[in-house]
Amino acid sequence: MVKLSGIVVLISGRGSNMESLASNVDVRAVICNVPEAAGVGIARGMGIECIVEPAMDGVASALDSLDPDLVCMAGFMRILPPDVTERHEVMNIHPSLLPLFPGLHAQRQAVRAGVAYSGCTVHMADAGVDTGRIILQDAVPVMPDDTEDTLSGRILLREHQTYTRAVRLFLSRNDHDAPESGAVFDDAGEAAESAVRRGGVAYLWRNGGTFAVSGNHPDNTPCVLSVPGDDAGVVAARLRNTVRW
Ligand code: GRF
Repeated sequence: MVKLSGIVVLISGRGSNMESLASNVDVRAVICNVPEAAGVGIARGMGIECIVEPAMDGVASALDSLDPDLVCMAGFMRILPPDVTERHEVMNIHPSLLPLFPGLHAQRQAVRAGVAYSGCTVHMADAGVDTGRIILQDAVPVMPDDTEDTLSGRILLREHQTYTRAVRLFLSRNDHDAPESGAVFDDAGEAAESAVRRGGVAYLWRNGGTFAVSGNHPDNTPCVLSVPGDDAGVVAARLRNTVRW
């Protein structure tokens, strides 16, 4: 039997993250669980096979027969059963700086909480809701007059860039080590304290058994963020939850 591979994207709606991914990396197929979703037409218009499969069992069988190297959930509004996330490498994108504001209406939660910054997180999917290991985060400021819609639009632009970067990191994950730059700490909690103390947006990543903090984005490695207003405990939780490939 010929083994098909590549990237399969799961969608339920508008499909803008899928469109952005397919414009930047090779997407083998799209699976959509909502027949009338706008993303179906977008995928087919791009010449990508789009399987419409409302039932979760059907989604799971389609994934098993496609046997992709990577599954990217992009606005897929169902939780995958644990056996699916165990059989496949699955990523998700979420419109907040996890672990803050998981679940539905993340941007509304951020506006209501009055945070100064929010953003997006690409993470590996596990059996929980937005709990899997974090690959990349990116931040945007929340303006005093922001509504759920205006904040969503600002975050979405970053989602498109961040998802492509995360997929490229995954595809090249065995080819490079974490950069040796940044202040280095033995303990994730100390790294988080240092990031919060330095103020501004800081980038934190794992460097073997140590943790690095820098004001500059490290290329080629999974990283999480500390943003103004963050609690050091939240930042440490993010850092401990970075992906280990
Ligand atoms: C995005 O905000 C994504 O983070 C969330 O659902 C939305 C999907 O948008 N999970 P689109 O369908 O990719 O345009």
